Amino acid sequence: MNAGTRKVALVTGASTGIGLATARRLLESGVFVVLTARDSSLERLQCADFLQDPSQYWLRPLDVRNALERRELLDEIEKQLGRLDYLINNAGVIYRTPIEYAYEFESKEQMLVNFHAPLEMVKVCLPLLRKSGGGRVIMVSSAAGFFSVPTMGLYAASKHALEGASEALYHELKPWNIGVTLIEPGFIASEAYMNCRLGLAFDKQNNPTAQNYRLQSRVISTLVDRAIHMTTSTPDQVAGAICRALNMKRPPLRLQVTLDAQVFAFLKRFLPSRAFDRLIGFCLDRIRYQLEHADFEVPTPAQV
Ligand SMILES: NC(=O)c1ccc[n+]([C@@H]2O[C@H](COP(=O)([O-])OP(=O)(O)OC[C@H]3O[C@@H](n4cnc5c(N)ncnc54)[C@H](OP(=O)(O)O)[C@@H]3O)[C@@H](O)[C@H]2O)c1
Repeated sequence: MNAGTRKVALVTGASTGIGLATARRLLESGVFVVLTARDSSLERLQCADFLQDPSQYWLRPLDVRNALERRELLDEIEKQLGRLDYLINNAGVIYRTPIEYAYEFESKEQMLVNFHAPLEMVKVCLPLLRKSGGGRVIMVSSAAGFFSVPTMGLYAASKHALEGASEALYHELKPWNIGVTLIEPGFIASEAYMNCRLGLAFDKQNNPTAQNYRLQSRVISTLVDRAIHMTTSTPDQVAGAICRALNMKRPPLRLQVTLDAQVFAFLKRFLPSRAFDRLIGFCLDRIRYQLEHADFEVPTPAQV
């Protein structure tokens, strides 16, 4: 089967959330979509109601960390479809742990999935994107790509790294008219936060130092709970923004796609750095104060 003049998109982490919503939007707009997910998650895709006509899409196993799977998939796309227009680097994981308790393997895994793998995906896709004449690369980043809060250091580091590399790519790929856009969502009503991986060492410790960190962690959980409760942003909205970016003649490097991300980006840009850091600190201290004065008990590891 050759895709002919139809555009072809490859979406990573399409089993749920933003990846799934993006695949749906792309399919609805007539793009041939290669939905990829880890082998163990592919089954979840079988229940997606919009996947009805298998001539419009492929479902393929792809653990983004696996070089062989990346290579084999691109070979198959080249042989069978003959083109690739859009790469949506969406797959991601979130580790939650204070830096002091982060195991080295955890920070490596965080960087592997959120930073190294998307770059390797770009490398393996570039020959086909170039051949298709002006492809587009979407890097799903986060507001954590430009600021950080306690216990989210590993995740923020991975997204900061992704932003730095993508900025270089944006300029490097201009001669081939390949656009690179960082999508920066803030809080979204999705499963992502529920899927957080709690640092193993942090999870086990119950000494005074860990308890202090646990309180910080509870502050962040409270902040996230409130934000997710208040937000009207959904994975589908982010998917809409991704599709708009794909259709732009000259897509921007960065797109903040939720109101909170836009506010934080504005403050980060226009406040002196010291004032921005103090503002974040003030907000966190306020939540901590509220928790401490609400008959709050320092949570046990299982409650963080
Ligand atoms: N939701 C938010 O509030 C938010 C905010 C800012 C940025 N983001 C970013 O948006 C992207 C998507 O997140 P989401 O909200 O849709 O979260 P999600 O519902 O947790 O989805 C994450 C996706 O990544 C996949 N994944 C994880 N590790 C993978 C691997 N090694 N290989 C292939 N796929 C892998 C997951 O697959 P499995 O089903 O196999 O686990 C899942 O499909 C992430 O990059 C995230 O950092 C999310």
